[in-house]
Amino acid sequence: MSYPAPAPLVVAGCSSPKEFWHLDAELAYLNHGSFGACPKPVLEAMATLRIEVERQPMAFFVDQLHQQIATAMETWASLLGARTADLAPVDNATTGMNAAINGLIEAGDAVVVPHQLYESVRHALSRRHSEVAFTKTVVPIPIPYPGDDAFLDRLMDAVTPATRTMIVDQVCSPTATVQPVARLAKACAERGINLIVDGAHAPGAVDVDLGDMSAAVWTGNGHKWAFAPHGCAVLWVCPQLQERIQSPVTSLGYELDYPERFLWTGTRDRTAQCVFPEAVAFARRLGGFGAVRAHNDALARFGADQILEKLGFAAVAPVQNFGPMVAISCAIEAERDQIGQLRAYFRDQHQVEVFTHIVAGTLLIRLSGQVYNTASEMVRLADALVQARNKGIGPWA
Ligand SMILES: Cc1ncc(COP(=O)(O)O)c(C=O)c1O
Repeated sequence: MSYPAPAPLVVAGCSSPKEFWHLDAELAYLNHGSFGACPKPVLEAMATLRIEVERQPMAFFVDQLHQQIATAMETWASLLGARTADLAPVDNATTGMNAAINGLIEAGDAVVVPHQLYESVRHALSRRHSEVAFTKTVVPIPIPYPGDDAFLDRLMDAVTPATRTMIVDQVCSPTATVQPVARLAKACAERGINLIVDGAHAPGAVDVDLGDMSAAVWTGNGHKWAFAPHGCAVLWVCPQLQERIQSPVTSLGYELDYPERFLWTGTRDRTAQCVFPEAVAFARRLGGFGAVRAHNDALARFGADQILEKLGFAAVAPVQNFGPMVAISCAIEAERDQIGQLRAYFRDQHQVEVFTHIVAGTLLIRLSGQVYNTASEMVRLADALVQARNKGIGPWA
């Protein structure tokens, strides 16, 4: 099946959406997923606010910050279908996941996780394990992704009467697979299991309706797909568990209730979190997150299709399980340094930046579609891949 290239989004007053970004104009930046990239209007709002902060630091930190964060949390609440009382600002999903793991996992618990969890989350689990003894069952999820029903069954089959916690990604990082977290949350809630959802990639990229999701904890980034500056993320905790969730940084708010205890984590730049409403306003300028997502999903599928047609590789999941990123298995074994050589070859010889990774010893390419990308950039990636293989670059050496 082939996927046509979507029409670029039309924005009044600019000839191409790429004008809104500082990205190198020559570069096909096809890895929005790793660190996002913040559009200029949001960065400008942030720069203005930073100057405000420096004009009168006492006024900002003592008198205004609380209200600014409250306004940002209201914006998050309407994006996520959540109550503001359940939301706390965090710097990134890593912080949110540390708070969840440290707060919910106790000595003697049994924890179930799929084996593709993000590496820093695996480290947070190891660290918690060094503090309290719990058992961890790691469930293999095959590649290609076996489908939502099988994913659910595999995880739920690993549950025992001792299972207290399950952790899952909403969008799995290396495989780009969008996973059925709402269904899983329901199944977990029925068994009295706390589901922690790592939604690092979710805001702005896939549907999130926390009002309708019976998860225990969910965290997600504004700085990946929701056009926010780096350092803008949010944590959601269901009301019954809020008492147990502390900020990983012990600071002035330590003795306050949730979410106030997350408001102060020591003095630092908070402007990325404060300008979240500007990030959502930017999405509205593009037609809203719905229009952005429709464009990005279609462009990512088009890009994947170019690679599959030219190289005969296979996507790692059914197409309906992808959002604005698609991961493709290149059917070749790879070592870490070969991945680095390949990335450098793409960047230096073809002006293409794309995510390359090894899963189960095999090279995966994960491409992202964002409104600043074009169909011709996707074609450039596919051609670069053909040449890398023909010239024996990286794993093809
Ligand atoms: C599933 C997942 N969790 C957590 C993270 C970490 O995000 P951050 O560095 O913004 O905390 C990522 C980053 O890509 C991710 O993919």
